[in-house]
Amino acid sequence: MSALRTEFLGVTMKNPVVTSSGCFGFGLEYRDYFDPDLLGGIGLKGTTLSARTGNMGTRVTETPAGMLNTVGLENPGVHYVKDATIPEIRAAGVKAPLIFNMSGSTLDEYVEMAKIVDTIADVAIVELNISCPNVKDGGMAFGANPCAAGDVTAAVRRQTKKPLVVKLTPNVTDVAAIAKIVEEAGADGISVINTLLGMAIDVRTRKPVLGNIFGGLSGPAVKPVALRIVYQVYKAVGIPIVGMGGISSTEDALEFIFAGATLVSIGTGIFKNPLLPVEIIEGLEKYCADNGIANISELVGAAHKGEVKV
Ligand SMILES: Cc1cc2nc3c(=O)[nH]c(=O)nc-3n(C[C@H](O)[C@H](O)[C@H](O)COP(=O)(O)O)c2cc1C
Repeated sequence: MSALRTEFLGVTMKNPVVTSSGCFGFGLEYRDYFDPDLLGGIGLKGTTLSARTGNMGTRVTETPAGMLNTVGLENPGVHYVKDATIPEIRAAGVKAPLIFNMSGSTLDEYVEMAKIVDTIADVAIVELNISCPNVKDGGMAFGANPCAAGDVTAAVRRQTKKPLVVKLTPNVTDVAAIAKIVEEAGADGISVINTLLGMAIDVRTRKPVLGNIFGGLSGPAVKPVALRIVYQVYKAVGIPIVGMGGISSTEDALEFIFAGATLVSIGTGIFKNPLLPVEIIEGLEKYCADNGIANISELVGAAHKGEVKV
């Protein structure tokens, strides 16, 4: 049996490498580069109850070690994704487990969406995004407020029997405390991190570059922050973690696994190297073979060995 085979919340995956929401479209866009079925799972673009056109003006800009984006959750809405997009993914022969990333502006919207998503047989895992810094209503507001984070998790939990992973924002003082609250509210897993709030100013125009002024920073620049948060969350909760934030190599993925991530999710790195997820899968396979690791799960949290969980 492959050393990378992973059981995540009852879902069997070929390997622990998945794609981050918003960085791999709806799973078919990168087919010219590699077969999406090589992935452990596919994180779908963030979806909302109604279709959204996203934010106005410049939505993406490069930084020395990553990017800022303010896409603003452009998506065709949950009904379209249910009736057209997911059937299209399956019709194309893609069988990999799908991780449905859902966002909302109000508690009612989250609840309404969760009811619909629960009826989509092809959705393996629900990722509750309460951490998007790029939308005015809802977005990060839910993830940055401990009470709201607990309430929305509990409300969505009541609507779905699917594995529920809650995606948290790093734009708070203590992510681990919020992770604990959402665990108590019924989350089955935690995804960390979403993007860090940032901005860029054009020195010629003296104006903010992004139409929305602020955007989410991702890519290699955020990796040390993301790794620290995965490490802290692992100590705080007993549920599995999807680790992400600047993973750009096999070594980065291993660091996240050692910090406590059961799955590693590749985002901005795909924009620079579309083959990155496959290269990381191969790299992890080689690491396990070279180090006599029977299953990659043995390595989860390795950096905590000897430490007592608090
Ligand atoms: C262009 C872009 C769009 C994104 N859209 C979403 C989204 O729809 N939902 C979500 O939860 N996260 C979204 N994210 C955040 C990523 O999924 C990921 O959490 C973050 O970028 C950190 O990982 P990375 O540094 O590997 O990209 C987006 C990120 C980028 C760069």
